[in-house]
Amino acid sequence: MALARGKTHTPLPAAADLRGRDLLELDDLGPTGVRALLDLARHLRTTRAADVRHALEGRVVALFFRKASTRTRVTFESAAARLGATSLFLREGDIQIARGESIEDTARVLSGYVDAIVVRTYAHAEVERWAAAADVPVVNALTDLAHPTQVVADWLTLEDRFGQLGGLAAAYVGDGNNMANSYLVGAALCGMDLRVATPPGYEPDAGALALARRLAAATGARLTVGHDPHAAVAGARAVITDVWASMGQEQEAEARRQVFAPYAVTPELFARAAQDAVFLHCLPAHRGEEVAAEVIDGPRSLVLPEAHNRLWVEAAILLALLGEEDGDVG
Ligand code: CP
Ligand code: NVA
Repeated sequence: MALARGKTHTPLPAAADLRGRDLLELDDLGPTGVRALLDLARHLRTTRAADVRHALEGRVVALFFRKASTRTRVTFESAAARLGATSLFLREGDIQIARGESIEDTARVLSGYVDAIVVRTYAHAEVERWAAAADVPVVNALTDLAHPTQVVADWLTLEDRFGQLGGLAAAYVGDGNNMANSYLVGAALCGMDLRVATPPGYEPDAGALALARRLAAATGARLTVGHDPHAAVAGARAVITDVWASMGQEQEAEARRQVFAPYAVTPELFARAAQDAVFLHCLPAHRGEEVAAEVIDGPRSLVLPEAHNRLWVEAAILLALLGEEDGDVG
């Protein structure tokens, strides 16, 4: 498909066939969809979206967030503005869901008012309910199970650095949480060599791992899931971690500090990676817990470009899901 680009005629990368789709986890996009988003995000970053600043004029994107957010909220709102769309940020307490109105009624009603709904919540089943009831695309802005938009930005950051994702060795050490799950699915779709090491009892979601393994069988990706952080990091070109206690797990934070201590990305652990290895973290980070300050603030940390890439990935997502077919590019 092709996309409306405002009044100029700079060719945009094709956005596969993503128009009108939901994005709950990366398998909703498939390998070609992820590829399309990476190319589109890179194009939008290079051009600062100058050629598409009217592409979504008159469109409205609603964001319904039940958890805190800096990056995801601001990048979706900034991306919408840069494409000519309006965004509405709805905190949980702002709408009648807080007083018991159902997700289904809310989704059906909002579908008459807005062109996409971006949802951050706890149970993944909630975004599935939003998607099932809404007539407009629903985008998962993080659930307890998955954080797909972050992984596209991370893969963009790694592709920028290493030129390609296929066969790239990356290690994720820490909690088998939403990030771990989406890294597995994303690595599978992009044919990567991902090694995940978590403490026993904190493994990635079994369903996400099974999905990732099915996808990997088609792309040739290599996925290793175990408990040894040193084995995972050995020779990896990217070392990735995330918080030990995710949003909603604050009361477990102290107990988790003990369990996760061997999984901290210290200078010693990072030194086991390849000589040109980089460090990624979706942020927010806790220096001295999951990562040492010397690593996250060191010369091989890409956390800032990673965070900044979120903007162009969200712009690519909105454009791909909502852009008009144009017929002469792509
Ligand atoms: N990485 C990420 O999703 O950050 P926020 O929680 O600030 O959105
Ligand atoms: N795993 C973290 C990611 C934050 C972006 C959380 O869910 O809190």
